Amino acid sequence: MRNTRGNSMADTRERFSPFTVTLHWVIGITIICLLAVGLYMADLPESAWRSDLYGYHKLAGTAVFLIAALRILWRWRNGMPEPVADTPRWQHTLAAGVHYGLLVATLAMPLSGAALSYGKGHSVPVLGLFEIGPPAQKIPWLGDAGSFIHYWAGWVLIGIIALHVLGALKHHYVDKDDTLKRMFGSHIG
Ligand code: HEM
Repeated sequence: MRNTRGNSMADTRERFSPFTVTLHWVIGITIICLLAVGLYMADLPESAWRSDLYGYHKLAGTAVFLIAALRILWRWRNGMPEPVADTPRWQHTLAAGVHYGLLVATLAMPLSGAALSYGKGHSVPVLGLFEIGPPAQKIPWLGDAGSFIHYWAGWVLIGIIALHVLGALKHHYVDKDDTLKRMFGSHIG
């Protein structure tokens, strides 16, 4: 559904609303930190520092899940702006694929992280408000499946983020259009 009304909170055909811009940067920066911390902490020896990092990682990861779900509902409700004029069709298709990949990976990462933690017998903290689990006993198949998906989806996500960033930089420096500026809230058109 695409919003064409004059409501400044909503996305229109030409611009992203401040709410969408804020969600985009909050989710993007948090996910990049989660990827870096996740790769770093998984190789650490047992220590209090490692347990603290695991705790923060789980907390921020579940927060990303809830914010990403909100973003998807918001996008479904509002649609999103048209690509800026003069963008070739193959680039629209590639960008749409990258965007759907980002949405799926943004949900798959927290879900698989929660599954791996729970399956390995740990609790899953949700926003520091309450915890799911721990289970009465470990669930090995859930821990293994969650671990496998979390690891590989993480690398796929890193690849998709790289494509997404390269695309944005190409628009800005090569095509010199307003694609990137729009995601900082500039009003175009
Ligand atoms: C967008 C959200 C998330 C991202 C981008 C992310 C990213 C990562 C990455 C890249 C790793 C390293 C993978 C490895 O080396 O095995 C990792 C590890 C881990 N993540 Fe996440 N994660 C997210 C959410 C979560 C959530 C919600 C939980 C649990 C509630 C979680 C629990 C874990 C655990 C327990 C590990 C360590 C795996 C191990 O010790 O084998 N993650 N995460």
